[in-house]
Amino acid sequence: MLSPTCTSSPHLPRSSAHQPSDKMAALRSSLTRILGASVRAATLRPGAIFTRSMASASDDHQPRLKTFQIYRWNPETPSEKPHTQSYILDLNKTGPMVLDALIRIKNELGPTLAFRRSCREGICGSCAMNINGQNTLACLCRIPAESTSEVKLYPLPHLYVVKDLVRNLTHFYKQYKSMKPYLQRDTPAPDGKEYRQSKEDRRKLDGLYECILCACCSTSCPSYWWNSDGYLGPAILLQSYRWLADSRDERTAERRTNLENKMSLYLCHNILNCTRACPNGLDPGKAIAEIKKSLALGR
Ligand code: SF4
Ligand code: SF4
Ligand code: FES
Repeated sequence: MLSPTCTSSPHLPRSSAHQPSDKMAALRSSLTRILGASVRAATLRPGAIFTRSMASASDDHQPRLKTFQIYRWNPETPSEKPHTQSYILDLNKTGPMVLDALIRIKNELGPTLAFRRSCREGICGSCAMNINGQNTLACLCRIPAESTSEVKLYPLPHLYVVKDLVRNLTHFYKQYKSMKPYLQRDTPAPDGKEYRQSKEDRRKLDGLYECILCACCSTSCPSYWWNSDGYLGPAILLQSYRWLADSRDERTAERRTNLENKMSLYLCHNILNCTRACPNGLDPGKAIAEIKKSLALGR
């Protein structure tokens, strides 16, 4: 299940995804004016009663403490077992996303904490981790507002851990390389410059080319947990379909043959955890179904 706090913003740059609309901004500014006026009026009256609006105005200065429980493991201290460590932050001084909290924790409370991040925009896929039981991107996941709930952070499941929240993706990338993720053709471009395709053929790649290889889907897939030595998993299969569906590629038959075995593709049992997990709103389950259909029909 998608956590309500981990809202994904597919295909929207973060700056626009998180900007309030003009209407919201106007509403907020008139609310501020009204609240400000009522606080001023109550303060000026002799013996004024402490009003609800005054209470909320003073609440703004109260710390909003939130606990972050973070998985810690350091290969350099092998006698120390993996454990979780708690860090408390004041949300008034922290950005809205889980990645903002992690950066603050590392800067101010736990300089040895290891995690990956780069773009902070949901584009590089490097901040993928398990947040409150959901595989997602820390930079797209809002910190839950309720003061009581903790935020639990673990590395992506069923992968070897390098340190703390950093997992080893060597096998994942090896599988990616094995499906030759690039255009293969012998026929030269008609104009000697570009391999063109019709608008209709180009549209077939929508929902596929946007994959950022974050591995949230593959590490949500029970079949991949238990059989990742042979099963390619949803991320790599979605990438395989991206090249099978590309009208410019000339190795379609060879790509199909590479998937025609018991392990690579057919260990998918249509549980669809993968589709629920994708923080970019893609549908690897559908891509896998399309590959199976293409192999069954031979086209
Ligand atoms: S649909 Fe297939 S790939 Fe997706 S989670 Fe289920 S078994 Fe894994
Ligand atoms: S399909 Fe989605 S979840 Fe899977 S690797 Fe690509 S972007 Fe990540
Ligand atoms: S930091 Fe790049 S996707 Fe989160």
